[in-house]
Amino acid sequence: MRRRVPAGVLLGWRLLLREWVPDGIGLEEALALAARLEAEGVDYFSPSVGTYHSMFTSEVRAFMALPAYLRQDTLALKQRVRTPVIVSGRVLTPALAEELLAEGAGDLVGLGRVLRTDPAWVQKARSGGAVRTCRNCNLCLRRVVLDQGFVCMRWPHLTQSRTDFEQRFLKRDLDRNLWVVAAAADLDVLQTSAAAAMLPAQPAAVTSVLFLRPGDRPEGLRSASPDSSRGSPPSGAAAGLPKTRWFIKF
Ligand SMILES: Cc1cc2nc3c(=O)[nH]c(=O)nc-3n(C[C@H](O)[C@H](O)[C@H](O)COP(=O)(O)O)c2cc1C
Ligand code: SF4
Repeated sequence: MRRRVPAGVLLGWRLLLREWVPDGIGLEEALALAARLEAEGVDYFSPSVGTYHSMFTSEVRAFMALPAYLRQDTLALKQRVRTPVIVSGRVLTPALAEELLAEGAGDLVGLGRVLRTDPAWVQKARSGGAVRTCRNCNLCLRRVVLDQGFVCMRWPHLTQSRTDFEQRFLKRDLDRNLWVVAAAADLDVLQTSAAAAMLPAQPAAVTSVLFLRPGDRPEGLRSASPDSSRGSPPSGAAAGLPKTRWFIKF
């Protein structure tokens, strides 16, 4: 690859240091591979640990819950190679990032969830402001694995809901209708003949009705909890809509 990549283009290697599966890659093997890759002209290493087969076990989860959990392993890598190394893995605060650089655990700091939790992390590192820290709940990871899109539990509720809505909208089956209802009173619109003509013709299709303001929720949706994205159908003529999902997220 080094020979094929044009000069001046950096070639990085995502280096798995520990797989934590039977007969999987361990630290020593990974360090030996790194030394060979360095000889081949790799420009930087970005280490990681765990795979989908191991990272949800209780031992690995406990290890990966530690702030800067790659600290010792990247230090070991730094002692083996001269190639720049990115240290990442719950580098929660700018102070911790400085600490890792000062002790030589890495040449650069990598921020994953940390940066998604607080997109202003870098500006705050410069200005000295307090960052919003990642709680390691892995809601985001679960959602990405299930192809539901990245949402962080620490984002403001409205941002979470909007992202969720965008994701649903982007992924929705084109045979389905999406009705955005700004207020409960708009349900009247669904009773018009023009609206009825737009209802899904396919038996499997589902109509989605979204209320933009929770305060507007109609009588029949009262039983739904505030965080619930679905409720039971409201009373009235609009309740007769075939196969309808009611969203009261906003
Ligand atoms: C939602 C999500 C998706 C990720 N996808 C990948 C991936 O495709 N490949 C990879 O090597 N690492 C992936 N990672 C791991 C991150 O790149 C990063 O190494 C890890 O989250 C540790 O850094 P952090 O604590 O700052 O998030 C993913 C992590 C998350 C949370
Ligand atoms: S959802 Fe949880 S793990 Fe993911 S970035 Fe937000 S706080 Fe961190």
